[in-house]
Amino acid sequence: MKKALAAIACLAASLAFAEPVKVGMVAPFSGVAADFGKQMRAGIDAFFKLHGDTFAGRKIEVIVRDTGGPNPEVAKRLAQELATRDHVDFLAGFGFTPEALAAAPVATQAKKPMVIMNAATSIITTKSPYIVRFSMTLPQVSAPMATWAAKQGIRNVYTLVTDYGPGIDAEKQFAKTFEAAGGKIVGAVRTPLRNPEFAPYVQRIKDAKPEAVFIFVPSGEQSVAFMKAFAERGLKEAGIKVIATGDLTDDDVLQAMGEPTLGIITSHHYSAAHDSPENRAFVKAFHEVAKGLARPNFMAVAGYDGMAAIADVVTRLGANIDADKAMAILKHEKMMSPRGPIHIDPATRDIVQTVYIRRVEKRDGQFWNIEFDQFPDVKDPGKE
Ligand code: PHB
Repeated sequence: MKKALAAIACLAASLAFAEPVKVGMVAPFSGVAADFGKQMRAGIDAFFKLHGDTFAGRKIEVIVRDTGGPNPEVAKRLAQELATRDHVDFLAGFGFTPEALAAAPVATQAKKPMVIMNAATSIITTKSPYIVRFSMTLPQVSAPMATWAAKQGIRNVYTLVTDYGPGIDAEKQFAKTFEAAGGKIVGAVRTPLRNPEFAPYVQRIKDAKPEAVFIFVPSGEQSVAFMKAFAERGLKEAGIKVIATGDLTDDDVLQAMGEPTLGIITSHHYSAAHDSPENRAFVKAFHEVAKGLARPNFMAVAGYDGMAAIADVVTRLGANIDADKAMAILKHEKMMSPRGPIHIDPATRDIVQTVYIRRVEKRDGQFWNIEFDQFPDVKDPGKE
């Protein structure tokens, strides 16, 4: 009898464990930034492909919600519905800064750990104690670019950034680090987030004749539009170097942008060409699960690592997932990512990682961001 009771108790416990863990994913999956969501999702699926989707007996279920954005009001509403109606255990995704900022109060009020897989303005993690970031910040990738440029003897730079959070972060940090290293900013322009017409800005830069132009535009559509104006206005022929954050030469669209990108120098935390066993396994799994995507980009790797962290929490907490206990684990994550070693700074809940300097090169008829220098263990300087 005792034995039978124990067996029933055991069965009951395992049934309780069988309850799935729900992750509510908020990102654009349609519209001009559809690839933001698709890349993150494919990164998550690559993680499941390599490591399974069940931890401590609990399957991780991803509930996808499309903002069609950038669309902060919609992102907030979707996060709210996921928290209160779908009773998710985690919020995840968040491609655009305004969407992450709009959803931050939901994470706090509903007490849901919110795992950022792209949105990269420094301030985001300060907006809720339940936010942790597995992507990057713009100051984190812009400072190394400035240091590298100054070291090359580049003395005057014009900056062009998109006029919202991440662009302003990039502009300010680049100028701060570059001027501290003896460089001079000879001009600065901010372009609109929606439908920018780059040609007049590029012409203005060409007329100013700086040694180099530093660029941040959100990856995808804007990278393509900038590169088109860059090629048409003959910036390269005028001898003006392009240095940028890796958003410009995003792996998702690099091959499509083609020839004009050759030789562009960027700083970023992930390249699909990164040479490591972890990345080779990731890229292979990505191609097995991703539909209609050319290559994994930095959003895919953040999706992969963010899900790895969620899986770690599920493994450790099992049936008792509680937001504060989950945050205590997430704050101390440390892992070997396909991008290289990463960890979370427990003081800021922001990622610490290697920032690579890369050059666009052609290999076997394909364009790649080839890493040739690196800055290890870079914290977000935006919070210092
Ligand atoms: C952002 O909105 O934070 C963002 C979007 C696209 C990028 C980088 C940052 O490539």
